[in-house]
Amino acid sequence: MTRMSESLDERARAILLGNDRGGYTVPTAGLYPFQWNWDSAFAAWGFSTFDPDRAWTELETLFAHQWPDGMVPHIVFHRDDEGYFPGPTVWSTGRTPATSGISQPPVAATMARLVLAADPSHRERAAALVPKLLDWHRWWIRARVRDGVACIVHPWESGRDNAFDWDVGMANVDGSDVGPYQRRDTGHVDPSMRPTKAEYDRYLALVQFGRGIGWDQVRLADEGPFLMADPGVAFILIRACEDLAVLAAEVGADPGDAAEMAEGLRAGLDTLWNDARGHWDARDLRTDTFANVLSSGAWLCWLAGAGRPEMEAHLATAWGAVRHGLPTMDPAHPGFDARRYWRGPAWPFYNALVAMGLRDAGKDAEAERLRADTAALIRNGGFNEYFDPVEGTPCGGSDFTWTAAVWLTWAGRER
Ligand code: GLC
Repeated sequence: MTRMSESLDERARAILLGNDRGGYTVPTAGLYPFQWNWDSAFAAWGFSTFDPDRAWTELETLFAHQWPDGMVPHIVFHRDDEGYFPGPTVWSTGRTPATSGISQPPVAATMARLVLAADPSHRERAAALVPKLLDWHRWWIRARVRDGVACIVHPWESGRDNAFDWDVGMANVDGSDVGPYQRRDTGHVDPSMRPTKAEYDRYLALVQFGRGIGWDQVRLADEGPFLMADPGVAFILIRACEDLAVLAAEVGADPGDAAEMAEGLRAGLDTLWNDARGHWDARDLRTDTFANVLSSGAWLCWLAGAGRPEMEAHLATAWGAVRHGLPTMDPAHPGFDARRYWRGPAWPFYNALVAMGLRDAGKDAEAERLRADTAALIRNGGFNEYFDPVEGTPCGGSDFTWTAAVWLTWAGRER
């Protein structure tokens, strides 16, 4: 590694340590002041490069707030913070400490496996996590898998908040009656990079629905105003079940039905293939309509061994249209917006997940290209939340935990 990489390594470690609030890590100071589910899993992977003990603590803290039904919430509000909306009183889930009432992409098992690989001496801690991971995956099957595929009841549950994918489902959500509220995100970063007010009204309407039914997770899926099958979560969950089966075997824990869950979910994937357009696609279960957009969720197909020649062709086309990293939405689509969050920008942590899949599928050249692109973005722009893939400009929050984490584990490591 070059000297420059060494100093970037130090900077990345300093970001993780600086965002550490004692047992959990915030995604970034200010904009995101609590513990987020999948951010934490990536943080653990980052910590595993220099402090495996701290890496396990990160995962343990997250799972200490698992709900009795197995759900692991998307936010744990360890302490109140005025700078974030919607906070604990809006969610009102009745948990102590407060949590949100929805989940987030289940990457934790995949990350736990990587954390163990970094230092196999922590077998007992891994073994203790296995039953909790199993409970969570079973929760997904019970409360979110409908029509054979993993669904989300709120765009935030996908982790890809304002992706174009959700527009078709959100069109049926009435946001006109949510009452007055004050957003906080737009006080931290440029509003042109954030979701719009119309989107926010609907996000809140969905939270109000959940609160109205006391956060009954099965009712949320079966009766809520929004239910969309998400290729991103679908691929991640299959991979997570497979990784959980391996992790359990590695530490001598009971793998339960992890492998069977993966198999069952794989069998349901076909309904997410949009034949007319030739790509994996999100689908609105309320109206049985595809989103009809080549979007970030589809790039995770290789992670679940679901790559297809059409997807390789799409990857090459997308790469031909932007200069930096992988866009989170088809650059040729009229809705592509290079700086608006999940409607175009390249996200380093997401690139790491896509590359993991590409590498496992034997696509080493593509995986390496993604790594080198991501490394260049970080080297030139810093440890930002995401980047404009056309111009390479750093966007969103700075000193981001999962960007620092994937620098240490992947982007900053030339093979
Ligand atoms: C945004 C992202 C989500 C992430 C959170 C914290 O909501 O869309 O994926 O977990 O920020 O970084």
